[in-house]
This record gives sequence, C-alpha cells and structure tokens, in this order.
Amino acid sequence: MRRILIDCDPGHDDAMAILLALANDTVLEVAGITTVGGNQTVDKVSENALKILTIANREIEVAKGAREPLIKPLQCAPEAHGDTGMDGPIVENITMQFSKKNAVEFLRDKILAFDGKTTIVALGPLTNLALLLKTYPEVKEKIEEIALMGGGYSIGNATAAAEFNFYVDPHAAHIVYHSGIPIIQAGCEVSHAASILHTEIEQFKEKGRVSGFVYDLLKFYSKFSEGLNLDRSPIFDACPVMYLLHPEIFTAKEHYVDIEISGGLTEGMSVTDRRVWYDMPKPNTTVLYDVDREKFIEYLSSAIFALD
Ligand code: BDR
Ligand code: CA
Repeated sequence: MRRILIDCDPGHDDAMAILLALANDTVLEVAGITTVGGNQTVDKVSENALKILTIANREIEVAKGAREPLIKPLQCAPEAHGDTGMDGPIVENITMQFSKKNAVEFLRDKILAFDGKTTIVALGPLTNLALLLKTYPEVKEKIEEIALMGGGYSIGNATAAAEFNFYVDPHAAHIVYHSGIPIIQAGCEVSHAASILHTEIEQFKEKGRVSGFVYDLLKFYSKFSEGLNLDRSPIFDACPVMYLLHPEIFTAKEHYVDIEISGGLTEGMSVTDRRVWYDMPKPNTTVLYDVDREKFIEYLSSAIFALD
C-alpha cells in the first residue's frame, strides 16, 4: 500500500484524479488533501474538494493552503473551469468541515507522524509544497517522491513555453525541482495523450451517483476543447495518479529538469535537458512521455463505476 497526500486546486481534472485514487484504495491510501489557489481562489477550490469527497462518500481531512503564489499575483483559469473552479455538477448537503490546520502544518504533521515514507501527489501550483520544504526541510527525507502534473518537455499551454501550474507559480516549482526529492512529472504531452473523446463521456450518463457527477463534470469541461475544435479533452491531473497505479501503460525517461524564473517569454517553462552530451547533470525527474490512451480510459472509467 502506498500512502499519498494530494495537494490540488479542483478543478475538473483534479476531481478525476482524486476519484481515481479513492477508487483504488487497496493500492493507494489517501492520508489527506490540501488545497491551493490555482484554477480558482483557494476558498472555491477547497469547497470543491469537499464536494468531491461528499459524492464519493469518503471522509478524508482537507486543509486549506496558499491563497497566492510566492511572488506573482494569482491567475485563475475560469475559461476552462468556470466561475466556481468546478462548474457543471451540483452537489448539496456538504457536512464535512475543513481541518483547523493550514496546508503547510497539515502536510508536515502528516508526513512526520508516519513511520514510513509518503508520496506527494501535486495537481496544482506548487506553492504549498515550496512553503513546506522551505519551512520544514526535515520532511524531505520522509517524502518518497513527488508525482505531479506540470510543465512539459517541449510545449506549454498557459504560454507557448509554460504549462499553467508552473506558470502560475514558477518560483514554487523552482524550489520543488531543486529540493533533491525524486519527481515524477506528467506534463502537457502525456496529458494530451491521456485525453477522453467527447463521445466517451456518454458512458457516464444516468448511471450512478459518482458516474452522474463525472458526466456533468466532463460535459462542462469538454466545452473548452470543443471551442478549440478538438474531439477530446486532456485529463491532465489523472496522469500522475494513473502512473502510480499502472506505470506499465506509460513511456517515461529520466532527465534533469529545471524551471525558468527569470521572466520573459519562457517564464515558468520546465527546461528539460534532453541533450546527448558529455557533462550532463544528474537526472532529477522521471518525465512521462506517452500513455496507452485506451487503457488509460478503461482504468479511469472502471474506477468511476467502482465508486458508484
Ligand atoms: C493544469 O492546469 C489546471 O487547469 C488543471 O487542473 C491542471 O492541473 C493543466 O495545465
Ligand atoms: Ca489542477
């Protein structure tokens, strides 16, 4: 059993990632969830985290984290995720309360109180993790690895060079990539390979409680891709969770990756050293390149139906 803490900004695809993890509770133990301002304000995405747990009927502690990136002002993504950050499904009767701790204290306590090592799954801007590593560096030796969605080895989405999570808080990403903790990086390319066809969303219609929620979620989320004349939507944040469950369906390579923080055209870019050269820096990241799309959707769908 692998113990994970999920740091996120739900987020339609964050919701898919969380549900995927919850459905696989014989392999992954979700020890807690922390939230960060990203897709929407931290208050909105934190409410969304409670909605997801309510739908899945699971009581897992949720601690709110950073309102703002380390240096830049917060830039949200209502164009993809709507005004609530998770537009589409309506969830009522939320009875769960937030943890009294903030995300950084919560993460520290969860990591240090456990005998073994914990894996961090990071699905939003890396602000909470950067604050954690700078405030309590003693946690480093108890973190197995950080499996994250962010960056890309050749393209971005927020800009030509930078992916959204890293663009929102490049300085936090820089701290995480320089922490010495092994990183598994699901960037733009593998996320696009892990897309759900708009036609595949219909399988969730009028099935059960969780699948009905997923249907409403993906129906809203797919509007963004439809607007770009695409027939599918990338389920970005489910990639790092899927890799922990089924690494065999991915192709990956080890690289040294650094984050551009000097500004300009490449601000927030994950610069992946893919050279064949004599004095290469030691790899710090497992970069996911590609995934078997059919298997990805099959595992994702069966996880959702298993929760119904
Ligand atoms: C990332 O940005 C957010 O909009 C998604 O939730 C995902 O984490 C994709 O660039
Ligand atoms: Ca996210």
